[in-house]
Amino acid sequence: METIVEVIDELNIDDKACMALEKAGEIIKNGGLVAFPTETVYGLGGDALNPESSKKIYAAKGRPSDNPLIVHVADMQSLEKIVKEIPDAAYKLADVLWPGPLTMIMNKSDAVPYETTGGLDTVAIRMPSNKIAAELIRQSGGYIAAPSANLSGRPSPTEAKYCVEDLNGRVEMIIDGGAVGIGLESTIIDLTVDTPMILRPGYVTKKMLEDILGGISIDKTILSAESGVKPKAPGMKYRHYAPKGDLTIVEGEPLQVTKYINEQIMQHIAEGVKTGVIATTETAGLYKADVIKCAGSRDDEEEIARNLFSILRQFDDEQVECMFSEAFDENGIGQAIMNRLLKAAGHKVIKV
Ligand code: TXA
Ligand code: MG
Repeated sequence: METIVEVIDELNIDDKACMALEKAGEIIKNGGLVAFPTETVYGLGGDALNPESSKKIYAAKGRPSDNPLIVHVADMQSLEKIVKEIPDAAYKLADVLWPGPLTMIMNKSDAVPYETTGGLDTVAIRMPSNKIAAELIRQSGGYIAAPSANLSGRPSPTEAKYCVEDLNGRVEMIIDGGAVGIGLESTIIDLTVDTPMILRPGYVTKKMLEDILGGISIDKTILSAESGVKPKAPGMKYRHYAPKGDLTIVEGEPLQVTKYINEQIMQHIAEGVKTGVIATTETAGLYKADVIKCAGSRDDEEEIARNLFSILRQFDDEQVECMFSEAFDENGIGQAIMNRLLKAAGHKVIKV
């Protein structure tokens, strides 16, 4: 299949862009696939209410089909068709946080095929704020099932070029809307349990959710090592974002961390191994690795979130074999950064 790439400026959706979005909508309505930008990461979209489309999504990604998809909507009314009942908590959260980087789990109606929910009776729903995404959803009939637009196991794409890398020839169209604003996937909250539970941390923090709903719990598997306990979001059990090389996170006092990483790097370089470091503005100049990537300043964790997945892909491109990353504070968005880093590292953490 030949993949068409359409470039659209989110801030200037002109007539040409409208035509491209109409064409993309037709593709999805006809059962095809379109990769598109959202504010979190790029999505790989198909018609959420068409079981054949969901099957195609799994095939294009090479993803296990027990891993449910998120249904993207453009307005609140759209929920009525796909859920049994809209919980009060959903209205409260939507009021403040939708459209935006929050996914809510609710009990599904019969309109949502099990192919989309990976066999579950619940459905994950998100209303993205990206204007290209919102218009595409409208043009596609209102319901787009979309996982992140990467091949299974690779970091989620934060730019269209990474979608091209992973999905060229596997989807009908890729919409290039530039680099995303957030860079980590949405926060997922389960509203089908008595105390709403965070299943995946993201830009929307526990504190923001607590301020709206009061009591919130958090799936314990989010930051702990892969034990026998199964995460509640099926997708969280997979070792996502795995770079091709070996990644270790080093935790401790900044000077100790830099010293330890440099010692390890010297040793690896002596053995002929290509090394890399995920550093911060504060420390990047102190490292002696072959490839040093600065994720941003510790004072601006949003910048670190935005850069993380792209850095992991760059390490692959530069064939780095052994990587170290500094650890990040687990408050606020730092929790989401650490959750993704821990998965990338297969939970390999050294405390110095
Ligand atoms: O920001 C995002 O959420 C992006 C953009 C494209 O919207 N999408 C995304 O989708 O990250 P994906 O498929 O890569 O991750 C969806 C996660 C998986 O971990 C999946 O297991 C979980 O959501 N999930 C989906 N439906 C669920 C359900 N009914 N119950 C529990 N977890 C669910
Ligand atoms: Mg994903």
